[in-house]
Amino acid sequence: MFMFLHLFLLTLGATTPTTTATADTATAAGRVSAVIVFGDSSVDAGNNNAIRTVLKSNFRPYGRDFMGGRPTGRFCNGRLATDFLSERFGIKPSIPAYLDPAYDISDFATGVCFASAGTGYDNATSDVLSVIPLWMELAYFKDYITKLKSHLGPMKATETLNEALYTISVGTNDFLENYYSSYSTRTSSRYSIGAYQDFLIHIAEKFILDIHALGARKVSLTGLLPMGCLPLERSTKAMSGKSTGCVEMYNKVARDFNVKLKGLAGKLRSEVPELRIVYSPLYDKLLDAIDHPSSYGFENVDEGCCATGMFEMGYLCNSWNPFTCPDANKYVFWDAFHPTERLNSILADYFMNTTLAEFLWS
Ligand SMILES: *[C@@H]1O[C@H](CO)[C@@H](O)[C@H](O)[C@H]1NC(C)=O
Ligand SMILES: *[C@@H]1O[C@H](CO)[C@@H](O)[C@H](O)[C@H]1NC(C)=O
Repeated sequence: MFMFLHLFLLTLGATTPTTTATADTATAAGRVSAVIVFGDSSVDAGNNNAIRTVLKSNFRPYGRDFMGGRPTGRFCNGRLATDFLSERFGIKPSIPAYLDPAYDISDFATGVCFASAGTGYDNATSDVLSVIPLWMELAYFKDYITKLKSHLGPMKATETLNEALYTISVGTNDFLENYYSSYSTRTSSRYSIGAYQDFLIHIAEKFILDIHALGARKVSLTGLLPMGCLPLERSTKAMSGKSTGCVEMYNKVARDFNVKLKGLAGKLRSEVPELRIVYSPLYDKLLDAIDHPSSYGFENVDEGCCATGMFEMGYLCNSWNPFTCPDANKYVFWDAFHPTERLNSILADYFMNTTLAEFLWS
């Protein structure tokens, strides 16, 4: 980290030696005023607690390694990658959900989460499990801006919105819960897989332009993980009598879609004035952890810690299940669909060391 940032400083020609010392701990108070989160269950801090859906996780053992051992609605044993990012930027250790009544605008002013588990770029995806569609996350963001302006005053609010880091982490459900799911043959009969990806990219582009028009300047567009390696997909494949490896078809879709996300970020960065958007890939990093678990201290890469680890998430991952593992830190996945806190922390560090490093300084 030190060497990397040192080189980074030299490249930038920055002249503030004091920042070097703090950066070494990776908690330097950078120029990021708040972390503002859009997306799905990979980053939902508990918005689904407030809506009518079966897709919830506000009960044990979810949250058992969170501060206070508290289930929050995060689909994890502890914190999410976005929580770690907020901490690494020196802001606060976790980012509250916008719909959580325990928090108000004074909390949200330094970071807020609009994400909803089960959602996608496509409206049809959020319909599958009756969760918050992406366009409604945007509507909540507009509501937030109004409150922020009355809380901070218009000048300071605008400054906060410009200096915030916006993360967008969504897309997996469009494929696994929608396009390839038996619930929704409608989508796959309407689009080829390539055309569907382009349709999603078009929505992503519009979304980014919308938040830019509302003040976003620093944006991180997160790539898809190797979704064929999720325990649920592996188990389903094993049930059908095939081997237990990752499902290559889904991994290929993720790689193809990631190429398009990266292209979109590059295009917008060069075309849209003042928009500093980065594409944050996690596919290779996660696959590396799966392929070389011991170098990350993991012992289990193909099952989740919770329950049997093969199929359970949401209500099936509950405290009555006797099989939940004692130490989630040894697992890449917490439930059949979601990473452990430890993997989230590794991914956050990876982003801080790479794509997000530029936002530590300006
Ligand atoms: C990021 O940098 C820190 C500090 O050098 C290092 O300890 C850590 O392993 C790096 N993390 C990743 C995921 O690259
Ligand atoms: C999704 O639904 C919203 C609200 O009805 C609508 O404004 C938007 O155009 C829809 N998006 C797409 C891509 O159809």
